[in-house]
Amino acid sequence: EKEVAELVAGHVVDVPDFPHAGILFKDVTPLFADGQAFRQVVDAVIEHHGRSSFDVVAGVEARGFLLAGAIAYATGAGVLAVRKAGKLPREVLAASYALEYGEATLEVHRDALEPGQRVLVVDDLLATGGTAEAALSLVEQAGGMVTGFSVLIELAFLNGRDRLAPRDVHALLTV
Ligand code: PRP
Ligand code: MG
Repeated sequence: EKEVAELVAGHVVDVPDFPHAGILFKDVTPLFADGQAFRQVVDAVIEHHGRSSFDVVAGVEARGFLLAGAIAYATGAGVLAVRKAGKLPREVLAASYALEYGEATLEVHRDALEPGQRVLVVDDLLATGGTAEAALSLVEQAGGMVTGFSVLIELAFLNGRDRLAPRDVHALLTV
């Protein structure tokens, strides 16, 4: 576990004042770009939850998509893309939330899940928890059962995990 945390830490670049003054942006593109490192983090997430503990992997737009696709391929699960507002062509469920900066809405198709399907939700970063709270609530509104939530990085000082209780929150690296 410590090894994976160090791996993530070694592949993240802190960018001050992006996208706004006062925000320290965690750029994970180097982690996705390193094939060995990417495979190790994907395997670590799967190992934490158990490879048969979920039927569907929900990835939060945009960086969560990259993790979700890889985890789904490796485990045989399906993918649910939790999308930013206005992208999906059919009837949607929507959840709005305040970001660390600005506001946003996430959507999934109303019929995206079968009742009771077990869903692992993934994203790159947990900050205030608004994004995750919206994504988890959408999965549940769609009839899914959230069996796990993983991020590469958790910003613990923002207490995002408190909003997600009692669900299990798993972070590869906590800063
Ligand atoms: C970032 C990050 C998480 C979210 C976390 O996404 O990728 O999804 O913020 O913040 P929160 O816990 O305070 O809600 P962003 O909204 O920048 O969009 P992107 O992934 O499409 O770039
Ligand atoms: Mg995001």
